[in-house]
Amino acid sequence: MRRRFVLAGRMDILLLGLFPSLVPSILYLSSDGKAGEAGPLRNGLVEAAVNSAYRRTILGRKLVMAHAISLDVNGTLHKLQVDDPDMPLLYALRDELGLNNPRFGCGLAQCGACTVEVDGKPTRSCVTPLSRVAGKHVVTLEGIGSPEHPHALQAAFADVQATQCGYCLNGWMMTAVALMKEKPKASRAEIRQALSGIKCRCGTHMSIIDAVARVTGAA
Ligand code: FES
Ligand code: FES
Repeated sequence: MRRRFVLAGRMDILLLGLFPSLVPSILYLSSDGKAGEAGPLRNGLVEAAVNSAYRRTILGRKLVMAHAISLDVNGTLHKLQVDDPDMPLLYALRDELGLNNPRFGCGLAQCGACTVEVDGKPTRSCVTPLSRVAGKHVVTLEGIGSPEHPHALQAAFADVQATQCGYCLNGWMMTAVALMKEKPKASRAEIRQALSGIKCRCGTHMSIIDAVARVTGAA
């Protein structure tokens, strides 16, 4: 009887690995090989086999699918091992590197909360595949300034108390930094134009534009 259960368990692992969608029928068939209600012991054995097969499938997939990606972020080279090289850059920055200034807002390139610089250009990291930035220079808000040495924009945002909840802050600042590289003396109209794609759910747009204008001399 015992041998029969072990054999059933191995069959489960094999079948589950090949046909994961068969899980419900495996549970049914391998309980006793016939139609009917399975006993608690049999259920336990089958469940253990299925769990084991599931873990092996996941583990096997990791071993096969792991990709190495080199990423230069804020001047430091990172070597990441990821399952999916096309995962969004945002996930790699937040989950793998612990850089939490880029935020997840819409996930659809619509709000700007996830903006980072890639080779000097403001980029929506929520829709940028990690593989596309391998070997490029990525800069996040953490690389722009620090509490001890803030960028002029960061200081102006703090002085003006430009935001409310602050969730959108990353998008405004990263986009404004890119604008100031191109146009250090940007007018209010140019600031409004450059920042027009960023969304703030708290409605602090006007004070944000004031903060940027203060730095470009358009206040
Ligand atoms: S989260 Fe990327 S644009 Fe909204
Ligand atoms: S300050 Fe709250 S979303 Fe902009």
